[in-house]
This record gives sequence, C-alpha cells and structure tokens, in this order.
Amino acid sequence: MKRILLTGAMAFLAISWKPAPPIITIDGYTFRDLNGNGKLDRYEDDRLSINDRVDDLISKMTDDEKASMLIGTGMPGFNGLTPVAGAIEGKVPGAAGGTYAIPRLGIPEVIVADGPAGLRIKPVRENTKATFYCTAFPVGTALASTWNTPLLEEVGKAMGQEVKEYGVDALLAPALNIMRNPLCGRNFEYYSEDPLIAGKMAAAIVNGVQSNGVGTSIKHYAANNQETNRLSINEHINERTMREIYLRGFEIAVKESQPWTVMSSYNLINGTYTSARKDLLTDILREEWGFKGLVMTDWFGGYAGFSAIKAGTSNVVQQLTAGNDLLMPGLPAQKQAILDGMNNGSLTKEVVDTDLRRILTFVLRSPAMAKYAYSNKPDLKAHAAIARQAAAEGMILLKNDEQLLPYTNKTKEIAAFGVTSYNFIAGGTGSGDVNEAYTVSLIEGLSNAGYKVDQELKKRYVPFVKNANYQDSLRKVKDGLLALPQRIKEMNVDKVLIDKKAASDALAIITIGRNSGEGGDRKVDEDFNLAADEVALIDNVTAAFHAKGKKVVVILNIGGVIETASWKDKPDAILLSWQPGQEGGNSVTDIFSGQVNPSGRLTMTFPVKYDETPSAKNWLGTPAGNPTDVTYEEGIYVGYRYFNTKNIKMSYPFGYGGSYTTFAYSDLKVDKDKLTATVTVKNTGKVAGKEVVQLYLSAPHNSIDKPSEELKAFAKTKALKPGESEVVTLQLQARDLASFIEAQQAWVAESGKYIVKVGSSSQDIHQQADFTLDDALTVEKVHKAFEK
Ligand code: BGC
Repeated sequence: MKRILLTGAMAFLAISWKPAPPIITIDGYTFRDLNGNGKLDRYEDDRLSINDRVDDLISKMTDDEKASMLIGTGMPGFNGLTPVAGAIEGKVPGAAGGTYAIPRLGIPEVIVADGPAGLRIKPVRENTKATFYCTAFPVGTALASTWNTPLLEEVGKAMGQEVKEYGVDALLAPALNIMRNPLCGRNFEYYSEDPLIAGKMAAAIVNGVQSNGVGTSIKHYAANNQETNRLSINEHINERTMREIYLRGFEIAVKESQPWTVMSSYNLINGTYTSARKDLLTDILREEWGFKGLVMTDWFGGYAGFSAIKAGTSNVVQQLTAGNDLLMPGLPAQKQAILDGMNNGSLTKEVVDTDLRRILTFVLRSPAMAKYAYSNKPDLKAHAAIARQAAAEGMILLKNDEQLLPYTNKTKEIAAFGVTSYNFIAGGTGSGDVNEAYTVSLIEGLSNAGYKVDQELKKRYVPFVKNANYQDSLRKVKDGLLALPQRIKEMNVDKVLIDKKAASDALAIITIGRNSGEGGDRKVDEDFNLAADEVALIDNVTAAFHAKGKKVVVILNIGGVIETASWKDKPDAILLSWQPGQEGGNSVTDIFSGQVNPSGRLTMTFPVKYDETPSAKNWLGTPAGNPTDVTYEEGIYVGYRYFNTKNIKMSYPFGYGGSYTTFAYSDLKVDKDKLTATVTVKNTGKVAGKEVVQLYLSAPHNSIDKPSEELKAFAKTKALKPGESEVVTLQLQARDLASFIEAQQAWVAESGKYIVKVGSSSQDIHQQADFTLDDALTVEKVHKAFEK
C-alpha cells in the first residue's frame, strides 16, 4: 500500500512539475510574470477585469497563435477519426481534448473531458501503479427520474470535484437533448421528452459542477436526436418546434446556470450545420438568452469532411463567424483554413478577436491557469454514497401488486434469473461511459444486505456470464472505438430447474437488461420489444412460481424505454432501476428492502406499442437505410404532448411512478397575479415517503393548436412521515403561459381560460383550478430564426 502511494505521488510530481514563473511584487501585491519579461503586463494583472486582460493578451498574439487557439489541440491518440498507434497522451490521459498552450505568454493548455454520468478518463497509466478511477453516477435518465434538483446539484458537486482533482478544467456534460423517439441510442445520457425537466436537471448539474471552479459544456445544441448518420443528417424542423421543444431546455439551463461552455451538435437544421448557424449560436443563445461563455463544436463536427477542408470548401469560416468559437478536437487542416480566411479577408479580425476573447476568458478562469495543484485523489468513497442515494431515488416502481415490495424475508432463498442479475449494467457506452473501479451487481447488492441468494443458480449463471463477456470483449476489439453494445442472450434455464426453484425458493427476481451507446440507435426487435428468450424466461418463471403460490419481481436495468404492455400482467412487481451507476445492486436493494421508499417518476412516456410513438413514421429519415434528411412531422407533439392530446392509451404515462405510501392533495390555490400555485400534500399511508408534485397547464388555443396540457412546474416534497403534510408552492413565469406564435414572431399568452392541474402524473390529476386572461399578452418578441 505504502509503496503504491509513493509511486503514485512520484508519478504525479513527474507529470505536473514545471518551473514556476517568476513573481513580480508591486505595492505588496504579488503577480506571476507569465511571459518572464520582468514587468507587469496588463493580462498578468489579476486586479483588472478579465475583459481588459483578455484584450491585452490578444494584442500580444501572432496570427499563427490566434489560428491555433481557435481549434483544439487534437484528440489524444487520434488523427482525424483514425486511431494512431502509440500516440502521446496529453496531461490527463483519456481526456477528450484541450486548448492550445502559448508557453511564451504563460498560457497553459486547458483540458476538457466527458461526460454526463461522471468524469471519463483512463483509469490506469503507464509508469505508475496509481489508479485514476472515477465514480460512475446513475445515467442522465436515472438522475432526471428523481425530479429532485437539489439532489442533482449534489451529484454535480461530486462530479465536479473529480474533474478538478484529476486536473481537468471542464466536463463535457450535461447532455440534455430531447428524447424524440425511444430508439435514440443516446437517450440514456439525456433527461426527458419534456424540455422543462431537461432544462431544470441540466441547470442543477451545471450549478453543482461549476461550484468547484471548473466548467461544463451543455450539449448537444441542438436537436441531436438520433445517432444514425449523426454527422450529416439534415433535420427539417419548424421554428415553433425548435423554440418550444428542442431549445427550451437549453434556454432554461443557460438562464439558470450560465454554463462556461455550450457544445454545438453534429446535425444540420433546415440545411445548415448547427455549428454554422448564427441564429442559433448568436441571435438566440447570446442575444436573447444572455449566454456569456464559449461555444465549441462537437468532436469533428460541422464541416463537409476532411476532403472539404483540404479543398478549401469547408465551413470553418462560416462556423467561426456564426459564433462557434472553438473547433474541437482540432485538425491541422482547420488551422490552415483559418489562416487562409484571415489572409483573404473572409474571416474578419472582428470575428477572430470575438471568438478568441471567449476562449481566453475560459482559459483565464480555469484551474490550469491558476496552476491548481490537483491531488489525483477525489473523495471516491463519499461520491459512491451519493451515487447510491441518487440511483435509488431515480428508481421507479412500475407495479407492486399486494404490496409485495418492500420484501424483508432474509431467511429464505431468492432465485435470481436473467443474465443481467449477475452482470448489472451501470451505464451506457461511448463518451457517456465512465471508467469506474467496480459495479455492484444485483446479487451482490442483495447479499450485502443479508438476503440469501440461490447458490445453484448463481453457480450456473456466473460462468455463463463470464464467458459471454469474454466473447463480447473480442468482438469489441474487432469493432473498434465506437463498438456498440450487444445484448447477452439469456442462458437456457430448463423448466425442471425452474420448477425446482419454485419449490425451494421463496421469491423469484428476473432482471431484464438493455444497453446502447453513442454511434448507433436501438432497434424495435429484440431491443425495444423483448426477445423470445426473455419472454420465455418471464413466462416460465412466473408460471412455475405462481403455481406454488410464490411471487415474481422484474427489475428493468435499462437505459431507455422498452415495450411493457404485453408482459406486465405476469410478474407481481416491476421495478425500473434504469442504469444506476456503479452502486446499482446496492441501490436496487435499498428499494427492495424498503430502506428507501421509491419516489422516482417517469420523465417520458412508455407507449403500448413502438409504432404509436409520434415520430415512428419518420424516424431516422429518408432514404431508408442511409438517411440524409429527416422531417419532424410531429412538430411539438413529442411524447405525452401527443399521447395525452390524442387520448392514446399508454403502458405507463409521463410522470408515473409508485410508492410504498399514499398521498392526498388538498387546498389548491392559484394566485393569478403572482402566478403561484400552492397545494397541500399529506402522507396518508403507513411509511415515510416523498411525493413529486406536478403542475400541468392547459392554455386557450385561439390562433394556434396546443397540447391538452404541458408540464410547467414541479417540486418534490421532503420525506413526509405518515400523517405529515407539506404546503408546496409552485412558481410560474409569464413565459409559462405563452406559446410561440410564428406569425407574430413572439411568445404570446393568448386570452382566455387557463386550467392549472396538479397531480402525481400527467394522467393522475388530483386538484385543478383556473383563471382567465382577459387580453392576450405578448411576453417576448424574438429574432426570426431557422428559415434556411
Ligand atoms: C460526442 C460528445 C463528446 C465528444 C468528446 C463526441 O463524439 O458526441 O458528446 O463530448 O465526442 O468525447
């Protein structure tokens, strides 16, 4: 142990030691003489405003340095999209990139790394035995399912501490794209089909992470809703849909947390790359919303390919002019395009300096600039506890017949079926993955809490899973960087064995697992829908256990929506655990045992059939197989906005989730002038629990159509004891009454009756009240955008 620690510390010194710049002392103040010229330059004087310092710095840069600074330093290990064998890693191995350093001016490289479920860096390094594991927090979807923004802020704080203590300057997260369709392969990273949830959750994470003095990059701005042909897909979306659905979350996050950076997305909108859209990156983001930070591209995003850069037909100049300040991860050909643009005048000095100003502001406020002495020792133990708590709070009780759960029998064996019970999935793959030290499986979690797990089944499953994982690792090596995860087929458990277990064990658990990741979308067969081997397992286990008068629990260890309607009647209880991070098995057990009363709620709709999803008709676009264009025909009618309005039966509606207790709502009062709603929520059951109070608004639709209701506010109560009440106040803004009316180029609250509905899901309203707006109200006039 001692030896390892020493080795780690020595390696750390070796990596980070550089001669300290000389110090200048004036009037008792000390300054770092960053350029070593023996006098205090304005940019070195940290009494001055950052703007003053940045201007001075820019005036000292050569054109070549300016061009280098507008692009990243490349992706360590990658030349373009091709991995380079033996390439040198940067300051933090496994980070995604950095900004250009100018040693002669004392300007350091600033490091950025993924991602949404926690920091993603390499856990081991050459020449040291020290490890650099990070905490795998629950995935974005699981975090959002808590509907608990203070908790997410705590999660963000913990993530940010890892960022800072591992020597990274900004986290490439959170990811808040809207779940347009259940099949998007990156939905697990995202929060919701609803922009209010997406924005509030993102703001909480950003506030938490940035409280450490490190940055974030909210992504992917905007409408990065499919992985298929993500670098080139041209999305046709009207302005109202953009503003009400795909931008609204970003707007909330920017206004409520002022992230240091925004990452533009890969896709095009109405014919132009998002990274080259001035309306998106300047008019809306900065002028309308007041964003102060920098915009970077997604990795290798936004141009028509390497050949275009070489041929000088790339859109580098267009991107920089639109307000996309930094091109990531940075390619030599982009630098050339910038220098060419500066020389031939297509890239103006004004644009270059504006973009540089934002990049340098980011650099000056970074821990790297302050020479922060990072420890490489974040508090992983404390963070594991936060991950465990957040995961449990995001789990959703979908079904619980005859109050099967909580289950407290620790004397009789539990039969755990399903390969995923032994191979729990902490999170999805790609840049949203984390290199954690361990993942607690379901059976480990149960055992840790003193439950007896059937050993014969364990002896059959464990080697099966081990072998399947080994085979899968060979496939992944072959498929390369963005190898997509594949489902492990269920082990064949014959009826004789199941009958034997039904006779001897007290309860059965079946875990159904799903995984997906960046670079690919999910499929309907054997992914959204259960595969035949999974259906057979559920059929056989429920039949055998029910025949003996015993119960069955299904755990859904999944990252996105699956079909539930055809089989949900069979088991007695269903717990949606999502992909809960490294403490997964412990978190599930906390709910299973009643240690934690479930309070997670769905942030998206579970349809009866995939085909009923509003975007199913045009999902992925045309031509089929290799789409170039996709039209968002459903417009604003995404998720519950569609299902509720059209009265289409759902398997589980938006906002749904069970509890071990019950709540009663009373006394809804709406104050039309203050735009507040107050309601009393009382725990009417036998155990303590938290309730998610959801406020939906039905607005008059005089000149445009509107959804039957939309979520406009929510709050989570504290843990209410049996009999205890809380008065919950929900605050609305004038904008919450308004819809975007394209003909008026404005957010307008139309005149007429507004119905405030408060309840525990979008389909379970307990109290309602209304008020009338006599005259229409133009809440905000905005730029015309998204024409071409
Ligand atoms: C992803 C981003 C990620 C970036 C850097 C891209 O492929 O889309 O979400 O931050 O890579 O790893």
